[in-house]
Amino acid sequence: MNIGMRRGTSRAIAAVVLTAGLGGAGTLATTPEPAQASTAEVALSVGAAAEAPAAKPVDCRRVKCVALTFDDGPGKYTDALLRTLAAYDARATFFVVGQNVAAYPGALRRTYAAGHEIGNHSWSHPDLTRLSAASVRSQFSRTDQAIKAAIGIRPKLVRPPYGAFDTTVRRQAGRPVVMWSVDTLDWRYRNSARVARKAVKAVRPGSVILFHDIHPTTVRAIPKVLKALSKRGYRFVTVSRLFGGSPPRLVYSRG
Ligand code: NI
Repeated sequence: MNIGMRRGTSRAIAAVVLTAGLGGAGTLATTPEPAQASTAEVALSVGAAAEAPAAKPVDCRRVKCVALTFDDGPGKYTDALLRTLAAYDARATFFVVGQNVAAYPGALRRTYAAGHEIGNHSWSHPDLTRLSAASVRSQFSRTDQAIKAAIGIRPKLVRPPYGAFDTTVRRQAGRPVVMWSVDTLDWRYRNSARVARKAVKAVRPGSVILFHDIHPTTVRAIPKVLKALSKRGYRFVTVSRLFGGSPPRLVYSRG
């Protein structure tokens, strides 16, 4: 990919600021969802849980931070992962696939309520650079609607499937496009020890690590990752927190 790079200072984040795209223009019917709590109940419970943590936000200019990111869910292993993250007081970012949100809305609600960040990873995980602008728009907007139906918010971040994007995809995303700096290749190597080793070895302050919580081997690797990096003084934050609350238009971290 041809992406200009600029190495940040304190967090070793390389980021390029791009012009804002269009956003939120398309509308498509959402997929019917299973019975769920009313919107008011969801807003109340999610809001309370998301705001509740008394600890002040981590300042990644002062402490070593890493952003763990989990793509392609939610799925049947997501709840196990949430328990592990909670045990280490870790926050993470989940780039969810719209059709999986429709299948597992409860898992998404629990993820968001636990203080994790949610990002849009398309509806059906195609290579978006092969689609028309209208199709790209519907991939994002349909997923936005499924997420909104489950947790009441429009995600502020996008990660295109396969990390494949072009000008059209960026425009249709209309918000920061988040890549990664450490690829654990966990989808290829279904081996917990290997996945954990890769993540721990490659991490630097400011790293954005790519995992997939649809693989049980990955979910089983996370306790090892959290334990090893905690010992080294790392704090586990969302992508937005890594950037002090406002990520640039394109996050391409080489931390
Ligand atoms: Ni993916």
